[in-house]
Amino acid sequence: MWEGFPLIPEQASTIAEGVDMLYYFLSAVSIFFSVLIFAAIFYFAIRYRRRSDTEIPKPIHGSTALEIFWSVVPFCIVMVIFGWGASLYFTNSRAPEGAMTVNVVGKQWMWKLQHPEGQREINELHVPVGRPVRLVMTSEDVIHSFYIPAFRTKMDVLPGRYTTAWFEATKTGVYHLFCAEYCGNEHSRMIGWVVVMEPVAYEEWLSGAAEGETMAEIGQRLFTELRCDSCHSPDGSGRGPSLEDVFGRTIALDSGPAVVADEAYIRESILNPRAKVVAGFRPVMPTFQGQISEEQLLQLLAFIKSLSPAEGAATTTRRPTQ
Ligand code: CUA
Repeated sequence: MWEGFPLIPEQASTIAEGVDMLYYFLSAVSIFFSVLIFAAIFYFAIRYRRRSDTEIPKPIHGSTALEIFWSVVPFCIVMVIFGWGASLYFTNSRAPEGAMTVNVVGKQWMWKLQHPEGQREINELHVPVGRPVRLVMTSEDVIHSFYIPAFRTKMDVLPGRYTTAWFEATKTGVYHLFCAEYCGNEHSRMIGWVVVMEPVAYEEWLSGAAEGETMAEIGQRLFTELRCDSCHSPDGSGRGPSLEDVFGRTIALDSGPAVVADEAYIRESILNPRAKVVAGFRPVMPTFQGQISEEQLLQLLAFIKSLSPAEGAATTTRRPTQ
């Protein structure tokens, strides 16, 4: 808006404009009522000042019309704010179908990112323009917060669970990435850049930064190394359930209501396998808590997702052309 003195960050994602419009609306409502209240205070203070020591005010016995007016008008205003805010919130919390997944691990004091194709980055995230990107995030230590002002995207990153956020960049460029939650001495240096590229340039970057293995392939290797395959055989004849086509499905449990096998459930089942045992199986799986890192967990997850073609297709099967 004003060069050199920007009041708001650039709008560079599909939701940025909507968020700003709501913010302007809230500001306008706040300014309007602040001015109204202050003007009324001064007007009444002067208009109804005490003019003599013996002056006694006339009693007022209320006004139904006025009461209704000042109840209904604020009610309507806050309902507009609620409806508008909720619709933005829902748009913002549900990633569109077919979004590409990028995994984020925060730690004191850096951001570690990994693309489904296997590429790793630190404090830098390369994404294509015009394509929704879903972030699956966790922390190795304390609470961080992943914040890209130009996209109006901000989400806490917590140890011990996954949080998600998504954005779709609308213009190419380089945008600041911050940690927005005080997380220790070098919190202020836990910053980086998001590089938004034309799709072709992004494909080139992907193949240039190729690691040789996709996340799902790394996960598959881990799956064998950790001997998960000795119980989770694909045909379901092992001591653990088959993991083919499990991701995204509703799973009946030994006790309690059924659950959807999403990222959080699979994470829990690896770290605390006895919490939600699949119906028909015995709680014999050992915990992997402390034996695998957050990044390895995400790689295992990528592998398990890749076993569910319908669910995992968008996130795991694309490979860079060499
Ligand atoms: Cu991480 Cu502040």
